[in-house]
Amino acid sequence: MNHALTRAAIAAALTFAASGAQAADKIKVGFMLPYSGTFAALGTAIENGFKLYVAEQGGKLGGREIEYFKVDDESNPAKAAENANRLIKRDQVDVLIGTVHSGVAMALAKAAKDSDTTLIVTNAGANAITGPLCGPGIFRTSFTNWQPAYAMGPVAFNKGHKTAVTITWKYAAGDEAIGGFKEGFEKAGGKVVKELSLPFPNVEFQSLLTEIAATKPDMVFTFFAGGGAVKFVQDYHAAGLDKTIPLYGSGFLTDGTLQAQGASAQGLLTTLHYADGLNTPRDNAFRADYAKNYNMPPDVYAVQGYDAAQLMQSGLTAVKGDFSKKADFRTAMRGATVDSPRGPFTLSPAGNPVQDIYLRRVDGLENKVVDVAVKKLADPARGCKL
Ligand code: BEZ
Repeated sequence: MNHALTRAAIAAALTFAASGAQAADKIKVGFMLPYSGTFAALGTAIENGFKLYVAEQGGKLGGREIEYFKVDDESNPAKAAENANRLIKRDQVDVLIGTVHSGVAMALAKAAKDSDTTLIVTNAGANAITGPLCGPGIFRTSFTNWQPAYAMGPVAFNKGHKTAVTITWKYAAGDEAIGGFKEGFEKAGGKVVKELSLPFPNVEFQSLLTEIAATKPDMVFTFFAGGGAVKFVQDYHAAGLDKTIPLYGSGFLTDGTLQAQGASAQGLLTTLHYADGLNTPRDNAFRADYAKNYNMPPDVYAVQGYDAAQLMQSGLTAVKGDFSKKADFRTAMRGATVDSPRGPFTLSPAGNPVQDIYLRRVDGLENKVVDVAVKKLADPARGCKL
């Protein structure tokens, strides 16, 4: 018997079996998102958006079926490392999708890097993720906290406001949004005269509103999101402050919240990388499909989830579904142009979207686009060494 031939035949059979198994295996996607607490609706919108894109592709990305795992991170940084490791070590997911809260996301990014698991951040704006924590496997389809807030600085100054008070939750997202606004506003010629904050996720705003009234700035800039944003806008209106001191914010203040905010939000101006009324064929098709599937209009969080699935599709298509080609998968994602409902965007070398930031005004139940505040705004990615 010819042993060399037999060995070759066995090797060929094993290779064939392995590639068959690889094609049959599903890609494991782990959602680490908040499904409870003040950001619960944001987590659900991200998951909805991701699954919508996958459904539009016939249930597959790069020809591979997807298996989902999920963990409710409760927007709790203290549980973040343990929650991340449930997905990484217990479920052995191929790709992590998450999360909303910046403090949780920083622990998630660290766990992803330590285990060399690919991570797509679908909301949390922590500057560090595409700054000092950047890496070849770290991607974001959302924003940095700096981006939308910085864009509001010159917009507000050009409306004639010279002094501003800021108010936010005391954690990474709030601090960085205020930092971004202050940089843009003071570069334009304005002055932030007071910075107010309260711990996340508290909503006892009354004493801080009294302090704003006593300070009498030309304007207020704020970062709040989810349930906290609903309450802040309602309280600001109920205190009558909106009649004398105009309120501005990063667009999370009024995204996904308008039904609950009602009259109190009307006319508010915010800056964000998505808006209602863009009226492009891409956005119209997305909005129609989202509304058909979920019986509600999409918001920015749904767009960020949808685009994470699009980004994965670019990577998996480039490697023809062969996830063992991890480096090629990542290189293709980093070089992708994402055909987003917000408008096409590319990723910076650090992995963060380079994108237009819209100025929007609340009109009824919509954040209607008014203008592009800054075109193709790239985060400075301070501290990222690749
Ligand atoms: C954050 O923690 O980064 C965040 C949370 C909600 C909306 C936007 C940013």
